[in-house]
Formats: sequence, structure tokens, C-alpha cells
Amino acid sequence: MHNTIVKKINGKFAGVDILSLDQFTPQDVTRVLKIAKKLKPLRVNGKPSKILVGKIITLLFYEPSTRTCSSFSSAAQQLGAGVITIQDASSFSSVAKGESLLDTISTLESYSDLIVMRHPEAGSAMKAAETSLVPVINAGDGAGSHPTQALLDLFTIFDKFKRLDNLKILICGDILHSRTIHSLIEALSLFKKNSIFLLSTKELSLDVNFSKKISSTGTKLTNIHFERDIPKDVEVWYWNRIQKERFKSLKDYKKHTKSFVLTKRLLDSYGNKNMIIIDPLPRVGEISHEVDSDPRALYLKEQMRNGVYVRMALLSLLLGKIK
Ligand code: NCD
Repeated sequence: MHNTIVKKINGKFAGVDILSLDQFTPQDVTRVLKIAKKLKPLRVNGKPSKILVGKIITLLFYEPSTRTCSSFSSAAQQLGAGVITIQDASSFSSVAKGESLLDTISTLESYSDLIVMRHPEAGSAMKAAETSLVPVINAGDGAGSHPTQALLDLFTIFDKFKRLDNLKILICGDILHSRTIHSLIEALSLFKKNSIFLLSTKELSLDVNFSKKISSTGTKLTNIHFERDIPKDVEVWYWNRIQKERFKSLKDYKKHTKSFVLTKRLLDSYGNKNMIIIDPLPRVGEISHEVDSDPRALYLKEQMRNGVYVRMALLSLLLGKIK
């Protein structure tokens, strides 16, 4: 074990595991975003950098990924690091022969300097971090957390509004099961006077204990179940798909898929000129394609690109290459 688990960062990133937003102070978040902004031109201009030369990053994914896996890979390679990628770990690693998660981590830590892991079980990233001698970044643990997605969402929000406090945010989708929603709510609760509207079917509302924890920070959470309750002065609309893989049956899942689709009509009825629309993606019907060309829609443009810059910053900080 290389450090105390769920260690608060408090300005010292080197060697820390990134498991959830609980570890961050507002200053820690701001630091990551500042460094991401500084490193961004390297990627935008395709300028190779040597910051991480000699370092090897393992990407260990037990659940499907397009953006998280490849943006970590892009971030690492942009900074000169080598990358070991194991996608579909359950079929293409010794896990298929019955090897445990902890033995797999012990193996990969001896080949690399940092492990990025996605796994279907909430709490798995913490287990991996307890064993690992090298830092572990949680790239999604079941319905638990997805901290690096929240950081890139904050980067996108800050880029537009130049602040992370005093914002009104509408979050829509599978609020019960979505790890990106959980992490974004935690991230927003670090900053003052944010007001979050949670739009979902009643069954997919936020877990009560989680809700209590967030409310105790002073962040205002309002559950809404009808589109007519969407306030018109919201700065950020955050949509996310219904998380099919977390339902017991296809029938249960299908009950929720058509509930709140973001269409041009919805946008014209409840949106405003200055807002932005983000979605961690993949999109599975929750946003209509007619919205894509709207200048407020950032999900296929800035938002996913920002993932590379934020991950460049985090890798550099955790590996002690930027102080
Ligand atoms: C998210 C995830 O894996 O939780 N995807 C991502 O990393 N951008 C969102 C999702 O799958 O709905």
C-alpha cells in the first residue's frame, strides 16, 4: 500500500490515488484545471512533450470505454509516456483464467508507474488502490464514481462561465445509477451556492443517503419529475443515458428510456441563450441529433476534447512531474 486510502489531496498530488471527488478541496480542483489549460496547447498544436518520458501507464478496463480509455492513452502519449492497454480485461487478460483483481493489480504495478482502472463493481477502485504500490485512477467503478469525467465537466463549465460557484445546473437521466452524475454532483458541492435540479423518473432519483451528504454541504438539490418544472435560467444542462447495464431486466430499463429526451422543442421551451449542453457520452437516444448543431451543444466538441487536457494534467501531477 503506497499511501492511506481515500487520502485527501490538500495540494500534494504526487503518488495519490484518485478515487472520488471527496479527496479534493476547491483549490485542488482549480489546480488541475489550471494545469490542464496550460498543457492544452501541446495537444491542440500536436507538439510532442517529454514531461512523462520513461513512465508507463496501464489502462485496465473491465467495462467498455471509448472516450475515457483513448483520451487517457492520448494524454499519456502526448506527454511521452508509454501505454499498456488492456480493454475487455475479463476476456483478454488472465482474469479469463480466473485470476483475481488483486493479483492482476500486483502484476500490472510491477510493469507500470500508474494504473487507470474501470470496473463494474462500486468500491473496486479502492480495493485496487489498497493493494497497488503505484497510484490508481478510478476511471469508473460500477454505479460509484467517475472522478476524471467530473473534472473534465468542470473544465468545460469553467471555460464558459469563468466560475464554478453560484451556478444553476440541470442534470437529467439515470440519476440513481450514473457514476458521472454522482461525481459531478460531488464536484459541484465543493463550491459555494450551486443549485442543482435533478430531472428523472421517480424510481431513478438520487439515493437518499447520497442526497443528505450533498445537502449538508449547503448545495441545493431539487428533485423534479416533469419537464414543466425546469427553470428557465439554468446555466448548464447535463444529460446522460439511462444506464442499461445496471438494470435487472431489459423490461425495467426500457421503462425509462423515452422519459426525458433532449429535443429542439425542449430546448426552445425551457432553454436560454447563454446556457451550455453537456453529456459525458455515449449517447443512447437521450439527446436528439437535431440538437447537435446548436452552438450551445458542447458534448461532441469541446467537452470530450477537454478530457485529454484534464488527464494530461492529472497524470503529470500524480507522477510528480508538475508540482
Ligand atoms: C460514462 C461512464 O462510463 O460512466 N462514459 C464516459 O466515461 N464518458 C458515461 C456513461 O457510460 O453513460
